[in-house]
Amino acid sequence: SQTYKIAVIPGDGIGPEIVKEAMKILHHIEEHASYSFDIQYALAGGAALDQVNVPLPNETIQICQEADAVLLGAVGGPKWDHNPPELRPEKALLGLRKELGFYANIRPVTLLPGMEERSTLRPEVIDGVDLVVVRELTGGIYFGEKKREKTKQGEIASDLLVYYDYEIERIVRLSFEMALRRKKRLTSVDKANVLESSRLWRSIVERVAKDYPEVVVDHMLVDNCAMQIVRRPTDFDVIVTENMFGDILSDEAAVITGSIGLMPSASLGNGNKGLYEPIHGSAPDIAGQGIANPSATILSIAMMLRYSFADENAAQAIERAVTQVIADGVGTPDLVKSGQPAICTHEFGDRIIKRLEQEWKIGV
Ligand code: NAD
Ligand code: IPM
Ligand code: MN
Repeated sequence: SQTYKIAVIPGDGIGPEIVKEAMKILHHIEEHASYSFDIQYALAGGAALDQVNVPLPNETIQICQEADAVLLGAVGGPKWDHNPPELRPEKALLGLRKELGFYANIRPVTLLPGMEERSTLRPEVIDGVDLVVVRELTGGIYFGEKKREKTKQGEIASDLLVYYDYEIERIVRLSFEMALRRKKRLTSVDKANVLESSRLWRSIVERVAKDYPEVVVDHMLVDNCAMQIVRRPTDFDVIVTENMFGDILSDEAAVITGSIGLMPSASLGNGNKGLYEPIHGSAPDIAGQGIANPSATILSIAMMLRYSFADENAAQAIERAVTQVIADGVGTPDLVKSGQPAICTHEFGDRIIKRLEQEWKIGV
C-alpha cells in the first residue's frame, strides 16, 4: 500500500508539546487508513542553533525535499532574540518556505460551535464566520533586499518590498480558484493609495478577474480591512494579500475564533507537497507548562490529509473530532472563560483521539 513521507519539525517553545499531540493523531489515522506514514524528525530554529549552530541545517532541507509533507510546530524564543539576522530561528522558517517554493499560505478562519461565547468579540458579530486568508508567502518585504549601515547623518536600515508580476499572478489565481469553490467572493487587500507594489498587485487582480466572471471581487486598503475584519467578519469569504499584510491580518482574525491556538495553516506550492503549521508562534510565555492548545497543529494535520494526501474523509473526521470536543465545553486554558476549569495539552489530545475513535465506529 501507499506510504507517505512526512518530515516533522517540532522546533522551539511549545512546538514540541503541540507536535507531540499532533503525532498521536497521525498515528491514530495510520491505524485506520489504507496508507501508512514514514516519519522523519528534523531540526530547525533554536533547536538547530543549539545543536548544530545553524537555524536551518542542509540535512533538514534535504529531509523536507524528500518528504511528501512537512509538519512544523513553531520556532523562535527570547534565547535567540539577539542573534545576528542569519542566525535567528525565524530564518529557518523563511528559508524552508522559500527553498521548497511554498508561496501560498492558506489560513482558514472558522468559528467553532460553542466558541461564540468564548471569543472576546460579540456572538452576533462573529456568528457564522467562515473566511480564509490567502497570504503570499515567499515574496514581498520579507524577502527583498535588507540594509543596515552607519552614515554621516546616522544609522540607516531598510527592507525592500518587491514583487514580480508572476509572483502576484500565481497567488491571485489560486485565490480565485478557491473563491470559486466557496462563496465566490474575493477581497484583495493592499495599500494601493501609497505603495507601487500594491498598484501592480491591484492591476493584476483586475486582469485575472476577467477569467473569473462568477467571482465578486473587491479591493480593500489594508488599514480599512484591519477594521472591517473585526467589525463585520461575516462579509468576507476569501482574502488575498501580500506577505506581511497577511501575517498581521491573520493573527487579528484569530480573535474571531476565540484563540490563536485554533488557527491552522497550509503552505502550498506547485504540486501536492505542503508545509503544515499553526499560525501562532512558540509562545515562550507558556512554554514548558503543558497548557498550550494543540488544536491548531492537529487541524493542520487535517489540512495535510486534505491537500497533500487527498483524504478528505479523514480530514473531516479530525475537524469534526476537534469541533465536538470544543463544543462539549472542554479545553486548554485559552479556550475556557477565566475561572472555568481547563485541561492540559496531552489530555486535550487524548480527548480528540477518543472522539476520533467514535468517528470510525460511526463509519467515515
Ligand atoms: P506567539 O504566537 O508565540 O504568542 C502570542 C500569544 O498567544 C502568547 O500569549 C501565547 O501564549 C499565545 N499562544 C500562542 N499559541 C498558543 C497556543 N497554541 N495555545 C495557547 N496560547 C497560545 O507570538 P509571539 O509571542 O509574538 O512570538 C513568540 C516567538 O514565536 C517569537 O520568537 C516569534 O518569532 C515566534 N513565532 C514563530 C512562528 C512560527 O514558527 N510559525 C509564528 C509566530 C511567531
Ligand atoms: C508566521 C510567523 C512568521 C512569519 C515568523 C516567525 C517568521 O509570524 O508564520 O506567521 O512572519 O511569517
Ligand atoms: Mn505570524
